[in-house]
Amino acid sequence: MPDQPPLLDRLAIRHPIIQAPMAGGATTPALVAAVSEAGGLGMLGAGLMAPAAIAQAIAEIRRLTSRPFGVNLFVPEVKPAERDGPAIDAMIAVLAPWYAELRTEAPPRPVPPPPDFEAQAEVILAARVDVFSFTFGVPDAVLLRAFRDGGAVVIGTATTVAEGLILTEAGVDAVVAQGSEAGGHRGTFAGPFEPALVGTMALVPQMAAVLELPVIAAGGIMDGRGIAAARVLGAAAVQLGTAFLATMESGIHPMYKQELLNATDDATAVTRAFTGRPARGIRNPLMATIEQAGTPIPDYPVQAALTAPIRRAATRWGRTDAMALWAGQGAGRARALPAAALMEALVKEAADATPTAIGRSA
Ligand SMILES: Cc1cc2nc3c(=O)[nH]c(=O)nc-3n(C[C@H](O)[C@H](O)[C@H](O)COP(=O)(O)O)c2cc1C
Repeated sequence: MPDQPPLLDRLAIRHPIIQAPMAGGATTPALVAAVSEAGGLGMLGAGLMAPAAIAQAIAEIRRLTSRPFGVNLFVPEVKPAERDGPAIDAMIAVLAPWYAELRTEAPPRPVPPPPDFEAQAEVILAARVDVFSFTFGVPDAVLLRAFRDGGAVVIGTATTVAEGLILTEAGVDAVVAQGSEAGGHRGTFAGPFEPALVGTMALVPQMAAVLELPVIAAGGIMDGRGIAAARVLGAAAVQLGTAFLATMESGIHPMYKQELLNATDDATAVTRAFTGRPARGIRNPLMATIEQAGTPIPDYPVQAALTAPIRRAATRWGRTDAMALWAGQGAGRARALPAAALMEALVKEAADATPTAIGRSA
């Protein structure tokens, strides 16, 4: 990267702190704008949003801040999952008591597809956002070039060094190294997910040693000490999801926030139960029902569509037993603060933490 300015300059942010994009309503325009205003990089998780809603959210963020921010999408599966058939009947039978309990119904058949990726990307491209990031794969070269030609910094997500190299080859500007502690979906795209469950502590230095691109550490970072540690390990910046989920501006249900604050270090699991894609969340009864049924779980995004009515109703009724409580292993260290106050604390803690790296403290 000899002719590239450092990542922070390219992103035009003061602190090397990225608020993770979190699809599903957590990353409200208020949260994104507050983080960017505080000198970090706010990110809109737009993976599940219709194109028009993305345009509206971008406009709202711009009303709230003139600082840089980014937008994130889910790269679609190469081979789309079957949206009808006996496997879906079987899963609907497993979920039937939950549809009844939450006073909702199974989705129509074939199950509705997710928002169209091309149309989502077009809106983001047209809006000329500062940063475009993605997970679950690699978008095609033409699209990536269009973003870069439009002046966006392009960031991909990798869970192994091999995936980091694939992203480098594809022409991204930086790579998120997503450790196994991370909350939400695994970004794994180049092989089975189990061996790609590499912890942040092990992943970041290996990624930094091999990649000729800035590495952004993600997974289990909850405070300034984690930021300092990641930087010492070779990360150019950090991306925090769970820590920002608990902030005042985050769009999740208050009972979900409470679950984060109460979580113990062993409260989460990586599961395909909610969406058909491995993701880390706090264990709850809906997760247990699906996992223990012994019925094959349809692939993403079909399983996501089958559980969506239950999860939506659960959010309406404040029922954490039937929500997808995405959270990283550090959830118990989350703080219910305004995002600006969290940013301030993170920056101060990171500055305070670094001297202890040479062993002065107990
Ligand atoms: C609720 C939630 C939703 C997430 N949604 C996305 C997403 O839409 N796109 C994405 O690239 N990463 C997503 N992630 C993963 C984050 O980018 C990041 O890897 C993770 O939050 C880092 O681990 P931490 O939660 O321990 O900080 C999500 C994480 C959470 C907790």
